[in-house]
Amino acid sequence: MIAARLHSIGDPSHLRVEETPAPEPAAGEVRVRLHAAALNRRDAFITRGLYPGIALPCTPGSDGCGAVDALGAGVSGLRCGDEVVLDPMLGWGPNRRIWAEGSGILGMPHPGTLAQFVCVPAQNVYARPAHLDIERAAALPLAGLTAYRALITRARLQAGETVLIPGIGSGVQSFALLFAKAIGARAIVTSSSDEKLERARALGADVTVNYAADPQWFKALKGAGPIDAAIDGSGGETLARILDLVRPGGRVAIYGGTGGDAKIRPFSIFWKQLDILGSSMGSPEDFRDMLALVSEKRIEPVVGAVFPLADIVAAVERLESGANFGKVVVRID
Ligand SMILES: NC(=O)c1ccc[n+]([C@@H]2O[C@H](COP(=O)([O-])OP(=O)(O)OC[C@H]3O[C@@H](n4cnc5c(N)ncnc54)[C@H](OP(=O)(O)O)[C@@H]3O)[C@@H](O)[C@H]2O)c1
Repeated sequence: MIAARLHSIGDPSHLRVEETPAPEPAAGEVRVRLHAAALNRRDAFITRGLYPGIALPCTPGSDGCGAVDALGAGVSGLRCGDEVVLDPMLGWGPNRRIWAEGSGILGMPHPGTLAQFVCVPAQNVYARPAHLDIERAAALPLAGLTAYRALITRARLQAGETVLIPGIGSGVQSFALLFAKAIGARAIVTSSSDEKLERARALGADVTVNYAADPQWFKALKGAGPIDAAIDGSGGETLARILDLVRPGGRVAIYGGTGGDAKIRPFSIFWKQLDILGSSMGSPEDFRDMLALVSEKRIEPVVGAVFPLADIVAAVERLESGANFGKVVVRID
């Protein structure tokens, strides 16, 4: 089969599209012939050596949709040809609150989805939501799962509440906006780009602020009404400001830190009695519930760019450029 493989660390240009043996499904696994994959910041971090436990060579890629192609021993309830999306969280375990020791994410060291075929445990395979085309289905899994758990499971966002979503250009944050609007919440979003803010308004954002154009962006939000919850993957100075902005008794769910470490004021947290909630990926129940919300509300993931697998280097560079809005999808079929 053809796959995008990494043999050495450096930058995205180290990815090579090459022939490699197609995997055979072990007992309890299914093999999926992939139609499309999608990229996450993790894939770029791996090419640069900025991820723990990198094992080379590897096939990155955590997101994918395709058709079941072969069944390992003991697999029932699935048939070859079934159209599926993949839950990228491997081995979460029985506790909904926290992953089990030894769990991991599809796409290094477990061979990932930037390939014509991938093998995954049968329980990681779910029917593709009927209203989604191939590209939008591929865009959904990792970012959708991360956003759903942070926003709904951890921050417990309710209809009628207001949520702050900084950096709407992020793939995860685009899902946070879609999910917040789908459940009837009010959404405040920030971005470094007026064009992205315009796109966010088209998706239902109620209040928008350009944090790059105005270094005092947080002051502009003081009059936007009480903020019940915030969801953040940007870290750094932005996270410190978020803690100041959220109302007394509010919740802040943190799933990433693209902007690095944050210098936070303990006062904002203890005086306002904030709930600070760490969140990462999600449980099988989160994935199932996320798919149910997407299907019930006919949510359409935001796809910002589509590349063929042969152009994987350009695809990862697009992700790193910061110019994208939503997900970068890679066509494989
Ligand atoms: N724990 C998990 O399970 C998990 C899952 C997925 C991702 N992550 C992590 O979460 C982070 C986000 O991932 P991603 O793939 O969705 O997006 P990403 O591509 O890393 O997000 C880039 C976007 O972040 C925004 N941003 C950057 N600096 C910012 C700042 N100072 N203030 C506000 N926004 C800022 C920008 O939005 P604008 O362009 O709008 O300015 C930028 O386009 C990454 O660090 C990733 O590793 C963690």
